[in-house]
Amino acid sequence: MPHFESTELFARSIGASTDIVEKEMYTFADRDGKLLTLRPEGTAGVVRAYIEHNLSTSAVLQKYFYLGPMFRHERPQAGRLRQFHQFGVESFGSASPLADVEVVSLLWRFLTDLQLPGLTLEMNSLGDQADRTAYKAVLVDFLQHRKDRLCQNCQRRMETNPLRVLDCKNPECRTATEEAPRITDSLSTNSRAHFDQVQAGLNELLIPYVLNPRLVRGLDYYTLTTFEVTSQHLGAQNAVGAGGRYDGLVETLGGPKTPAIGFAVGLERVSLMLPDSVALPVPQLVAVAAFGPQGSSFGVRVLHELRSLGVPADTDSRATSLKTHLRQADRMGASYVVMIGDDEVVKGQALVRNMTTKEQEEVPLSTVARHLADRLR
Ligand code: HAM
Repeated sequence: MPHFESTELFARSIGASTDIVEKEMYTFADRDGKLLTLRPEGTAGVVRAYIEHNLSTSAVLQKYFYLGPMFRHERPQAGRLRQFHQFGVESFGSASPLADVEVVSLLWRFLTDLQLPGLTLEMNSLGDQADRTAYKAVLVDFLQHRKDRLCQNCQRRMETNPLRVLDCKNPECRTATEEAPRITDSLSTNSRAHFDQVQAGLNELLIPYVLNPRLVRGLDYYTLTTFEVTSQHLGAQNAVGAGGRYDGLVETLGGPKTPAIGFAVGLERVSLMLPDSVALPVPQLVAVAAFGPQGSSFGVRVLHELRSLGVPADTDSRATSLKTHLRQADRMGASYVVMIGDDEVVKGQALVRNMTTKEQEEVPLSTVARHLADRLR
């Protein structure tokens, strides 16, 4: 997906009255005066491409992933950047609760496989369009009676996007909305059944979760299931990954009616939770020590062959003597050094030194790369 798209795409999908569209997008006019925006998230672009390439005509379910930078003009703080990276998946074509279970379990497995600490999976259902219209009326009625206890922003949101009031971090707003009616109490029979089946599926897989009726999400395209994984180890910006169903979005953007669901993970937040150092196996490196007019040009060839065979190999092209090459090989932490001077070229034999045992052996120049590749396998 491109890193920027037309501004209208994001405004129409994420929603004109969301924080992202109201104040966080990097928007600029191109040379033709067309408004473009650095993508604040990936779902809108995937849906645009899905429609543009007519992928709904495929008989198999369309499942995608993406990885890349996203841009939001937020106040930077630990775990919140203006350019950050998301890994995301989007799955098109199935309205079955099993698709929800598949996607949520993928997110959970991805994060737990990394052994990230203190994870909680939160689940909610926002119902369908009709459920939400009905709920909004009930919620606004509740909020009207507490309007003077809400922050300025929430008072405004009451008019534009009342569900977002439930997501406000301001402690006074939270207290004022403690007793707010729950969206999960306003679900139609179908929406209720869908959510029950999603929960049953997660129970079946022994995936632990808590229900959070305040999980309204900051993007307007969601329907039915929404979810978020948070960590106690992340401070204020505690969401590691989040997503939900967006059954109406393909149609809103001009495509055929298509159910869909996905999630995105914030990779910087994942990295904040990883241990400071991880003991990874260090690959064994081969250093090429080639010197002299003929030796040097043979060295380039051997380096190329080693790398083509998948052997981690390096050289220092500034070194012109064996002594400097060996010093550099030592600094690189090389396990083997292939020594090729003019004499070796004449003999057709390279000298291979094991840097640990200091043993040396002669190997034909024509097969030295293969010889080392076999040895390091
Ligand atoms: P989102 O909740 O806006 O959802 O972002 C997903 C994740 O991206 C967050 O949980 C967080 O880890 C990370 N993230 C968001 N903003 C920042 C930031 N400023 N700095 C660092 N990390 C950040 C979406 O973007 C939806 N498109 C997810 C989705 C996919 N829903 C359906 N499909």
